[in-house]
Amino acid sequence: MRTAPARPSLLSDASVDPFEAEAIGATLLAWYDVNARVLPWRVPPAMSRAGHLPDPYHVWLSEVMLQQTTVTAVIPYFTTFLRRWPTIGTLAAADEREVMAAWAGLGYYARARNLVRCARKVVAEHGGRFPKEEAALLALPGIGPYTAAAIRAIAFGKRAVVVDGNVERVMARLFAVGTPLPAAKADLKALAAALTPASRPGDHAQALMDLGATICTPATPACGACPLGDRCRGRARGIAAELPRRERRKARPVRFGTAFVARRADGALLLERRPPEGLLGGMLAFPTTPWSSARPEAAPPLTGDWRRLEGEVRHVFTHFALHLELFVARLPLGVEAPPGLFFLPDDSFRMTDLPSLMRKVWRMARPALEGQVQGP
Ligand code: ADE
Repeated sequence: MRTAPARPSLLSDASVDPFEAEAIGATLLAWYDVNARVLPWRVPPAMSRAGHLPDPYHVWLSEVMLQQTTVTAVIPYFTTFLRRWPTIGTLAAADEREVMAAWAGLGYYARARNLVRCARKVVAEHGGRFPKEEAALLALPGIGPYTAAAIRAIAFGKRAVVVDGNVERVMARLFAVGTPLPAAKADLKALAAALTPASRPGDHAQALMDLGATICTPATPACGACPLGDRCRGRARGIAAELPRRERRKARPVRFGTAFVARRADGALLLERRPPEGLLGGMLAFPTTPWSSARPEAAPPLTGDWRRLEGEVRHVFTHFALHLELFVARLPLGVEAPPGLFFLPDDSFRMTDLPSLMRKVWRMARPALEGQVQGP
């Protein structure tokens, strides 16, 4: 028996009747069967149709990595992680610093710290298997409503509603929802819920993501190639590309600071591990002043022959842009690191262990510090 899907709170024509919902779902799955992107965390639709679901560990890891990050950027990290930590048990037993280093460059480092915590909790409290119930998933570190829904739908075949930015865009266009985001979120979720089928909900969610990534793209949707083109109310009205509307975002504020890159005569670099909470938490970094709206005084972490470099490093975080000026110093052998900092030997330093901001700092500082490295 068909059950009527949840009806969205009514705004414009943000509603869908159950027959239309079913037809849209079927069209979408048929399209996915032929066009699904081949991604390392997926099982192909031919297998999922036959009831083979992907490993929950793979689904969880990929979904955490894919938050705020593109598929292209995630693929090499995902394969590296699986090679190094092939099971949740191996990740739970990992040294957190090694996991942070393997995550370096992906950004949003709280995700990496929570990854290790979550793996440990799944091992300690669930015998190394992800729970299937929403409440138990939500109780795990770093798992919010989106990730819980993605794991339930994709790895366990549960009828959970998975809504990311792609899905919101597809819903806004398909149903011509003119209310701007974020106010439209609840309606877009209700529409996504109305479309979610009981069978193959994980493929349905991933079909919407693929449609959003390859056809219903943000700037110039390829409506002519869209399997849902005939049913799309946004397209019929000629407004698909304008949707979803958004409240005007506030301009990103700028913060200023100074970074200090010191190299000892044996090649060792002066570094710190950032405090566990906060931006770049737990990551390896060059010491900096605090970052604030007025440039703080450039007080170096130790005395030395500091020299300011021309230009600055700029980096955009979600809530602000950062402008860092740079000081470099060559230090003599025998200099000791001040409290909270340490010298990392030249042969242990890998730029890829640094977050992107600090890679930029190193790229700018390196030419000024190159030269003879003395042995001990
Ligand atoms: N973005 C978030 N999750 C995804 C998935 N499972 N496949 C493709 N893109 C995604």
